[in-house]
Amino acid sequence: MQHTLVRDIAKYDGQEVLLKGWCHNFRSSGSIFFLQFRDGSGRLQAVISKKEVSEETWNACQSLSIEASVEVEGLVKAEPRAPSGYEIQAKAVRVVALPTEEFPIGKKEHGVEFLMDIRHLWLRSSRQEAILRVRDEIEFAMREFMHERGFTLTDSPIFTPNAVEGTTDLFEVKYFDDKAYLSQSGQLYLEATSAALGKTYCFGPTFRSEKSKTRRHLTEFWMLEAEAAYMDYAENMQLQEDMVVHIVKKVLANRREDLKTLERDTAPLEAVVAGGFPRVHYDEAIAQLQKLGSDVKWGDDLGADDETILTQQYDKPIFIHHYPVEVKAFYMKPDPENPKQVLNNDMLAPEGYGEIIGGSQRIDDLKLLEERIAQHGLPKEAFEWYLDIRRYGSVPHSGFGIGLERTVAWICKLPHVRETIPFARLLNRLNP
Ligand code: 4AD
Ligand code: MG
Repeated sequence: MQHTLVRDIAKYDGQEVLLKGWCHNFRSSGSIFFLQFRDGSGRLQAVISKKEVSEETWNACQSLSIEASVEVEGLVKAEPRAPSGYEIQAKAVRVVALPTEEFPIGKKEHGVEFLMDIRHLWLRSSRQEAILRVRDEIEFAMREFMHERGFTLTDSPIFTPNAVEGTTDLFEVKYFDDKAYLSQSGQLYLEATSAALGKTYCFGPTFRSEKSKTRRHLTEFWMLEAEAAYMDYAENMQLQEDMVVHIVKKVLANRREDLKTLERDTAPLEAVVAGGFPRVHYDEAIAQLQKLGSDVKWGDDLGADDETILTQQYDKPIFIHHYPVEVKAFYMKPDPENPKQVLNNDMLAPEGYGEIIGGSQRIDDLKLLEERIAQHGLPKEAFEWYLDIRRYGSVPHSGFGIGLERTVAWICKLPHVRETIPFARLLNRLNP
């Protein structure tokens, strides 16, 4: 018999199928056995009636425990009360492997640290499955968007000789007789590839040894970064908006079931699809925050709490642009009209989530960039190649980086980024 996935079950209504997967749960009532089956593509119930199956199958069912691997053969029957709309009237159940020990995740509530310790098993829960499918959809949508907009994927290296986003949170590793740092951002390399190919992006893991134990910091996270020659900071914001709209559209179109599993109210996401994200000048953001009771002062970076209060005033993601030079990275271009502030933007996600994107126009003037590198105490030798991009046909250019995990956390409305990635790396966690 043909091996079928639960996902495709509707096509087999009234036919016999073979399913291969795991026993998620079970219960028995006299001569009827209910097997909650999952195969990664979906879940459904198989009903086994003692009088309709062989003794072998009945005994196999009696031997099951949670997470036993099983094969089920049976008839697909429409069942309006079932979440999948179908159930299986089983003809045969075969055990592939019985657990050697009791599955550690049961019906009782478990603490998050306990679940994170057994993350490799926790991933089998319907909630984690749903999150990972939404993550996949988002990653796919991001790549699709970049591809459609004519950006070429140019992967950036992970071993790097220098800092990009400040020197305090670098992970240092031994590199033969020398040392290297794990990449904080692929941006500098993208600036080089965009001067070759025009529009480029990279998408990979990035590392920050931030000693922050918050709901939005990982030490290893995935970031899509885009860079384009001749793109100014306003066009940069539009590109970011279009990308986020595309992502949310795709998730709403293809992952409704998963959002339902996560009990995610989709109304706030529907509001995002229309675009038109407000552009808020930093000065205005500070004034607004002060009115809302924050003690933030002009010149400060926005803290997580400030971002939360601010985003709660809007029903869409917002851009904050023109941050003060001092609080931002060395490469950001000062506004020629007002050099105290830079042509940058953060995108803050609604519902209190805060920053998911950082972007800016880059300094294209060689002298100014040299000055900034010196002011930031960065080793000039390590940046000579980067300065070459300004020496040979410098152009105005801009780009941004979107954090995948923060985007997943917002779209799934999760309380913490630790559940947005299969195996989170945090200040206090490197296992499993
Ligand atoms: O604002 P960041 O530091 O910007 C850059 O790295 C630029 N070089 C990007 C560019 O212009 N090419 O980081 C960008 C995004 C943040 O907005 C956030 O979503 C995510 O990366 N991010 C983190 N996500 C999880 N854990 C962390 N520790 C993160 N740090 C940044
Ligand atoms: Mg940032």
